Amino acid sequence: MEIIKDIHEMTEAACRIRSMGLKSSLVPTMGYLHEGHLCLVRLAKKISDRVIVSIFVNPAQFGPNEDLAKYPRDIERDISLLEAERVDALFYPEAKAMYPAGFQTFINVEALSGTMCGASRPGHFRGVATVVAKLFNIVQPDTAVFGEKDFQQLAIIRRMVEDLNMPIKVIGHPIVREKDGLAMSSRNVYLNSNERKTATVLFESLELARTLIKQDEHGADRIRDAVKRHILSRPGTKIDYIFIGDTETLKPVKTIKDRGIIALAVLVGSTRLIDNIILGPV
Ligand code: PAF
Repeated sequence: MEIIKDIHEMTEAACRIRSMGLKSSLVPTMGYLHEGHLCLVRLAKKISDRVIVSIFVNPAQFGPNEDLAKYPRDIERDISLLEAERVDALFYPEAKAMYPAGFQTFINVEALSGTMCGASRPGHFRGVATVVAKLFNIVQPDTAVFGEKDFQQLAIIRRMVEDLNMPIKVIGHPIVREKDGLAMSSRNVYLNSNERKTATVLFESLELARTLIKQDEHGADRIRDAVKRHILSRPGTKIDYIFIGDTETLKPVKTIKDRGIIALAVLVGSTRLIDNIILGPV
């Protein structure tokens, strides 16, 4: 696996792939890789000739009181995992190269960034959209693969690609879960053993919502109340949001039947976890 830190070198490597007539996929990550990331890599390998993974803990998407400094990092382990998957190139730039002095251009995907995680993490999606646009320009992939756990992020990136005519196909991969249902996330490492047990409440409450819908309860308020009660029955949890809405516009709906998303952000101890289920075709 080629390990590329330099932006121009990455673009040259991407041009070489293109000039050979090969199709490439990018899997953007912030590292501390887990099985969920590796599933994205495997999907990318299936659909393209060359796979590039980026690892960049993007300062622009962290708020001033968020976990940028303590975000988990283990580049040596990440490299071994990617080599085992036979990834072709790792792009691993430094923050000062991605955001040199004088940097002042940001991308704001307006309405989609204002709800859900965007409401509690102001500026987060501006940072995400900007770095993803930069990665797309540097790597120029044919396809980019993202996990559906960050469903709002995926919707925002799809919108950006459409609005800015970026010639890239964006593919979502279903959430990869631990055996007990907890969605895989690099941040799960913050949980102590009690919190780790408590964290299963996110998926349980989404399953509860799904069961209620199957039992013909379609009122979003009533489903939200049941989900809320279930989460709060577990000590040490604090709800950031329970969102029931449309998968494309991310606008709340009053009733949910065949299609839609139920998404949660819950603090377990001091760790903020997100999860969602999508009903019907995405
Ligand atoms: O989902 C992530 O890990 C990040 O938000 C991303 C897409 C790599 C941008 O920094």
